[in-house]
Amino acid sequence: MLHKICNSNDLRDNSMVNFSINNSEILVGRRRGRLFACKNSCPHRGASLSKGDFNGDNIVCYMHGYEFNLFTGNLEHMSHGRKTRDG
Ligand code: FES
Repeated sequence: MLHKICNSNDLRDNSMVNFSINNSEILVGRRRGRLFACKNSCPHRGASLSKGDFNGDNIVCYMHGYEFNLFTGNLEHMSHGRKTRDG
């Protein structure tokens, strides 16, 4: 089922916005000019990905630092320590 949530032009580059659709949180954004959308839940332990940061084409989960590619969903890096916003 399709849901209109916003116009693509409303999404600034290097930004992400969390939308609630039918009791699911969907993270939508634009990175380096490309649009992405994914569930706002880390596949590792369910942390909110919207609290993470970008690293290249990846989103870095704030909880344990795992990195997922925004466009493929692939796990790109598994951190062995807690990641902070300062690195
Ligand atoms: S909950 Fe996201 S890396 Fe652990």
